[in-house]
Amino acid sequence: MDAISIIRDKRDKRALTDDQIDWIIDAYTRGTVADEQMSALAMAILLNGMTRQEIARWTAAMIASGERLDITGALADPAAAPRPTADKHSTGGVGDKITLPLAPLVAACGATVPQLSGRGLGHTGGTLDKLESIPGWRARLSNAEMLDVLRSAGCVICAAGDGLAPADRKLYALRDVTGTVESIPLIASSIMSKKIAEGTGSLVLDVKVGTGAFMKTVEDARELATTMVGLGTDHGVRTVALLTEMSTPLGLTAGNALEVRESLEVLAGGGPADVVELTLALAREMLDAAGLEDADPAKALADGSAMDAWRRMITAQGGDPDAPLPASRAQHIVTAPTTGVLSRLDAYDIGVAAWRLGAGRARKEDPVQAAAGIELHAKPGDTVTKGAPLMTLHTDTPERFDYATEALTTSYDIAPHGTEVRVGPIVRE
Ligand code: URA
Repeated sequence: MDAISIIRDKRDKRALTDDQIDWIIDAYTRGTVADEQMSALAMAILLNGMTRQEIARWTAAMIASGERLDITGALADPAAAPRPTADKHSTGGVGDKITLPLAPLVAACGATVPQLSGRGLGHTGGTLDKLESIPGWRARLSNAEMLDVLRSAGCVICAAGDGLAPADRKLYALRDVTGTVESIPLIASSIMSKKIAEGTGSLVLDVKVGTGAFMKTVEDARELATTMVGLGTDHGVRTVALLTEMSTPLGLTAGNALEVRESLEVLAGGGPADVVELTLALAREMLDAAGLEDADPAKALADGSAMDAWRRMITAQGGDPDAPLPASRAQHIVTAPTTGVLSRLDAYDIGVAAWRLGAGRARKEDPVQAAAGIELHAKPGDTVTKGAPLMTLHTDTPERFDYATEALTTSYDIAPHGTEVRVGPIVRE
């Protein structure tokens, strides 16, 4: 078997055999297939797709590239009532900080939440990059440390350990810098290989749809959701999916430390309405899937128990929950050119601008800037006044402002005063 014939088969639209898939994933994980060969294959998959059988085998091969955890079994305590495990995964969006308040919230309601998360991908932010803006916080934990955090806080948000789906770790970083993210087979297998290998009992998928998502249409989002639910169910994981809106950024911030700050507002019982609504909707799905349908997540936000779980989790991972978050060295304010009603704010453009300011990476080895990003001062439906701030751009490298503002020139529309702007529901299906 060799990589070139496999690349040629996919380039020429032939389905790959089980043996070809097993071989290429194993050889890539061991380093005998080069990054440039895997990039070519990823591009061929993006362009020509995969059958259901190919996706199932590709996912199984990625799971088999590493170990499988049994978190529920490892945490079982014969002297205590079992806590069900529940996990959530988002397909990626702009301003999507939901995991940060959600994991401690669901833990405060009685579930164990092992949240293995990723870094920024393309124009979308990554949960680990966000949390790393908290001084001292560690994303990389050994399996034993991860279990300790789960025991003490009820939730953990960390990088998948080196042993878990290592094929995905390499491929994820490669896709980020080779324009090969937006592929249903590659996204579905990437997400589900990690989730199945981690051994969660139930899983809620937040499948984003809209300009700022990898899936731009409801039809594509539905296909991605159906593919992932099928993979999860086939592996014995209770899996449900919501299709949620991602044409407008979530909340009022996009960027690492900025999004941590907004998540803390939600945990303190405030925060933007759309972030709170989606956090609660996903919490209810997770609690239902875990058999805890009587729990009340709104109460856990209001009474501070979700914030307590957050503080325990951050502390257990080496972070200081009271330390000030990093602030940017330079800011630039974008003002409204006319008075009226903000009728559109494009999630993709905001994501690209935040990425250009330094919140994301251009090469897989690049660091991200903790303080870079965008603060929004208005959302669709809000009245805006000529000359008043529309958004504040943050970076430590002010020479990036021109490059970032270029991405913003067509990012919003302002309609005349009195225009009715309809803002659709966050949860679409
Ligand atoms: N999240 C993942 O883990 N993988 C993808 O490919 C996209 C989002």
